[in-house]
Amino acid sequence: MNIDGATALVTGANRGIGRHFAGELLRRGAKVYATARRPESVDIPGAEVIRLDITDQASVDAAAAYATDVDVLINNAADTAGGNLVTGDLAAIRSTMDSNYYGTLAMIRAFAPILARNGGGAILNVLSAAAWNTVDGNTAYAAAKSAQWGLTNGVRRELEGQGTLVSALVPALVGTQTLLDFAQRHGIVFPEGAVGDPGDLVRRALDGLEADEIEILDPLAAEAKATLAGPPQAFAL
Ligand SMILES: NC(=O)c1ccc[n+]([C@@H]2O[C@H](COP(=O)([O-])OP(=O)(O)OC[C@H]3O[C@@H](n4cnc5c(N)ncnc54)[C@H](OP(=O)(O)O)[C@@H]3O)[C@@H](O)[C@H]2O)c1
Repeated sequence: MNIDGATALVTGANRGIGRHFAGELLRRGAKVYATARRPESVDIPGAEVIRLDITDQASVDAAAAYATDVDVLINNAADTAGGNLVTGDLAAIRSTMDSNYYGTLAMIRAFAPILARNGGGAILNVLSAAAWNTVDGNTAYAAAKSAQWGLTNGVRRELEGQGTLVSALVPALVGTQTLLDFAQRHGIVFPEGAVGDPGDLVRRALDGLEADEIEILDPLAAEAKATLAGPPQAFAL
């Protein structure tokens, strides 16, 4: 997949990893639609800003009606704070599933025909090692990421025929404000070197996309995936 000259749409581009995606795509020569629920919160010179809530079908349809030249779709946006499954707030659990699973799916359903018309292109879904190693304090997020992993594998099979590359980016710990706030709330101190830099992650992701990789893992995510072949006791982070 060639990024130079491509047209990319990034969800949740106003902050965190999504903001890094928009910036790096521009640096690599792509036209970029930087989308966000609050367009006024996007500050990325050179990007075209669109309002987009991935859990609102009308909003997704409007983005797809407007951005008809997209050939790279970066599904980054997600609500990451579902809490625990048994004792947590059910509305928060639903919201986490809604954005990670149904929101990502809505974007893919809306943009798959556009990608087909534009030659196939690529979809990159931002997953998490939490899909494989659950996190006490946010088991709802881990379950939603597991669902999103299944979705990614399924969609890859379905879109193979139209020539769309469907790739999974699987990071473990990335130093965005959201992660740092979560750690502080739960009194978590990460081991030295465990938390990755969002800029490094995004560069690695786009290198992977350019090399047509279907799964792009950071080292901790690779360890998490390896536990799947072992006893299930290893699935807790
Ligand atoms: N940081 C990590 O350690 C880490 C590790 C593994 C995977 N990830 C994944 O990486 C992605 C980005 O994480 P991050 O740390 O950058 O998170 P973040 O800083 O909290 O950013 C989340 C982004 O998603 C947007 N968003 C949430 N719900 C949305 C919706 N319904 N429609 C449109 N946008 C929505 C937020 O918009 P608002 O500003 O409007 O809230 C925000 O732009 C997520 O998929 C996350 O699961 C992160």
